[in-house]
Amino acid sequence: MGKTNISLRGKNILALEDFSPEEIQLVLDTAKEMKNIIHRDIKKVPALRGKSIVTLFYEPSTRTRSSFELAGKYLGADVINITAGTSSIVKGESLRDTLYTMEAMGVDAIVMRHKAEGAPEYASKVVSPVIINAGDGAHAHPSQGLLNLFTIQQYKNTTDLKGMKYAILGDITHSRVARSDIQGMRKMGMEVHLAGPKTLMPRFLFEEPGIVIHDRIEEAIEAADVINVLRIQLERQKSGLFPSPREYARIFGVNDERLKLAKDDVLIMHPGPMNKGLEISPYVAYGDHSAIQEQVQNGVAVRMALLTLALTGGKDSEADS
Ligand code: CP
Repeated sequence: MGKTNISLRGKNILALEDFSPEEIQLVLDTAKEMKNIIHRDIKKVPALRGKSIVTLFYEPSTRTRSSFELAGKYLGADVINITAGTSSIVKGESLRDTLYTMEAMGVDAIVMRHKAEGAPEYASKVVSPVIINAGDGAHAHPSQGLLNLFTIQQYKNTTDLKGMKYAILGDITHSRVARSDIQGMRKMGMEVHLAGPKTLMPRFLFEEPGIVIHDRIEEAIEAADVINVLRIQLERQKSGLFPSPREYARIFGVNDERLKLAKDDVLIMHPGPMNKGLEISPYVAYGDHSAIQEQVQNGVAVRMALLTLALTGGKDSEADS
């Protein structure tokens, strides 16, 4: 798509439905530059010097929170972390008052995870710092969708993803990653294939154009150029959506036998954390086709890109210095 004049400066990063394909590609192109910084001995550039970032997490996280923190630090920003369990949130402070407190301290960006869908959008309406959604309920996880796209472009060595078949397997209903993937992959021209238990497949998706829903997981595996295996979100499940973890692994798990059905150059992804032996076998998770570790590193690069573009527009980025 080449160089464009588009700018994401000041944009709240809430969901990929708010992004054009050109804006998505700008993030991915910027992430490619940022990834070079991660490979340096001294991982520090002054692109965000003088900026302050808060990570505000009401739900647990390993990858997303720490990669946003590292991303900010590699870019020279000041980063502080607030988690629900160790802040005045445990004393009953409301989300709005917590946001007002951060705004009063002069922060430039709030990276936010919350169990309530729409909480980051609400935040964007009540305070002035840039809001970055780091996952809200089952609604959206835009930076995960972007790092998945970046990983595919890197592995497939092309920015042209049109016609590529992207399979999302498992618990679609509870997955914010699935929603952001569906939006992002379709904007970039990919064909989305879904498979999993019918009890974990939202009905509205059957009506959506550009989506193929398979009755059997094997059909999606055979069709796919890229497979994203979703985590079974045991913490969000109501009971009775599948018979037992053992039955789930037997019927829907991506294991070495099912991997034999896939294309020779298939790419296996998983957002993490993995339930190994449930939705994915250790052989598949750590095997030759797996991009899962690379996704984690790419998460830092994509989040560096998002912070730079949202806080500076990227024009004055000193990523090369
Ligand atoms: N993929 C993902 O969101 O992982 P964390 O919950 O560890 O941030």
